[in-house]
Amino acid sequence: MAIREVLKMGDPRLLAVSEPVRAFGSPELQSLLTDMRDTMLRLNGAGLAAPQIGVGLRVVIFGLEHNPRYPEAELVPYTVLINPTLAPVGDAQEEGWEGCLSVPGMRGLVPRYRELRYTGVDETGQPIDRTVKDFHARVVQHEVDHLDGILYPQRIRDLTQFGFNEALFPGQNLVDE
Ligand code: NI
Repeated sequence: MAIREVLKMGDPRLLAVSEPVRAFGSPELQSLLTDMRDTMLRLNGAGLAAPQIGVGLRVVIFGLEHNPRYPEAELVPYTVLINPTLAPVGDAQEEGWEGCLSVPGMRGLVPRYRELRYTGVDETGQPIDRTVKDFHARVVQHEVDHLDGILYPQRIRDLTQFGFNEALFPGQNLVDE
């Protein structure tokens, strides 16, 4: 188990396009996933992508299980998603506030597809195929963007809707992705 350093916006490694995983069941992949999970949980994140800890592979994790701080938050099962593909369901987009462990202390209003289908594989190479919406769809889009070198501020349409947590949402504890 290891908590890894999360790279911050400005680090060029966050702007790179990551490579697909080709070998499953390796100790290296398992230890990457363990480190990602430990790091995400320690930082109270709802998602983390491998490039955020400096590993340029198409691996993301996400999940928001019951959290007393967010009793009304939509729950998302803990998921390991490798080599993902996304396909929007319909054209509808929705603006929502996002934060990111690589952009600590900030929030921005970001448009995302409301509903999408995602496919990929888990850590053993077994297929995943889900159609999801709302927060679940948002967090997947945010994480998969990291694999293509995109950080959420690049998607903000109105930069007046970008700022510091304590100014935008005083007194609230927020989850980052
Ligand atoms: Ni992020």
